[in-house]
Amino acid sequence: MRSSAVKKRDDPISPYLPVRCTVEKNIRVSEKERLFSIQPSTPLAPHEPGQFFMAGLPGYGEAPFSVSSPPDRNGRFELCIRRVGNLTTALHRLKKGDTVWIRGPFGRGFPVESMKNRDIIFIAGGIGIVPMRSLIKTVMKDRNSYGRLTLLYGVKTPEEILFGEEIEKWGRLGMDCHLTIDRPHPAWKGNVGVVTTLIPPLSIDGANTICVIVGPPVMYKYVLLSLSNKRINGHDIILSLERCMKCGLGKCGHCQINSIYVCQEGPVFRLSEIRHLREAL
Ligand SMILES: Cc1cc2nc3c(=O)[nH]c(=O)nc-3n(C[C@H](O)[C@H](O)[C@H](O)COP(=O)(O)OP(=O)(O)OC[C@H]3O[C@@H](n4cnc5c(N)ncnc54)[C@H](O)[C@@H]3O)c2cc1C
Ligand code: FES
Repeated sequence: MRSSAVKKRDDPISPYLPVRCTVEKNIRVSEKERLFSIQPSTPLAPHEPGQFFMAGLPGYGEAPFSVSSPPDRNGRFELCIRRVGNLTTALHRLKKGDTVWIRGPFGRGFPVESMKNRDIIFIAGGIGIVPMRSLIKTVMKDRNSYGRLTLLYGVKTPEEILFGEEIEKWGRLGMDCHLTIDRPHPAWKGNVGVVTTLIPPLSIDGANTICVIVGPPVMYKYVLLSLSNKRINGHDIILSLERCMKCGLGKCGHCQINSIYVCQEGPVFRLSEIRHLREAL
């Protein structure tokens, strides 16, 4: 039975110690990405959309990965992992029932409660859809508490679109979904151009809109430029920053931007909190 898989414990788990977890599913989502469903053997703290876990394997080290699933009362969570190096290649080889070592969840997630009753524009580039999926699924579970929902998602080629079937489903549930690829492709009938090309046609009620942006560092500057005449307050523009991380605990300094530690105060920030930091965007 699922609930018996998680043992109760009274002592707090040290954030330095990884917990043994079991891979329940390892599913191909594209040539480079696989989606893992992970069940901890010992309960971890409940996660929020936008937080990250440190996932590791003996002999390969550990790295941060954003949670891709909404909060789950059984403690199970999903990570979508792109194969780029030693650790991620080893993680991709894991089979159902194998062990992965997890610490976390860490960091500050998306301010979901403050998004209620507002229109939300989700802007994702490439693998930025991974943490966005956790947020979107959380919002969709309580759809009537939010206003208009719009997704703008840009990737380089059609093969790189992640969670395409889920995006179609979100569209059927009333989300206005726009996808784009960077360059023309024979198999693609939709919009061509970077994700910023989807912004000018949008009709936005700036005073009632929250905009969430997750993507590669280069994307932020251009998305913010395109949004500049949409009258959205810097407090209502929310971004997730990806920085090199080692400890996840505010100790090693790897993730530092000027005076802040991204692993502690982020990775999710309001634009108004970071626009004065020279190295942030
Ligand atoms: C807060 C946070 C959340 C993250 N969430 C995710 C996630 O949800 N899914 C995910 O797949 N990754 C995510 N990452 C990135 C992930 O941590 C790195 O890809 C990981 O360190 C790779 O480990 P590795 O040992 O396989 O490769 P490494 O040996 O660390 O890197 C191998 C090569 O790949 C390059 N590389 C490293 N990271 C990336 C990258 N992200 N994109 C392109 N090239 C890269 C390196 O420069 C190097 O050349 C996240 C990072 C942060 C900071
Ligand atoms: S990752 Fe070590 S201080 Fe942030």
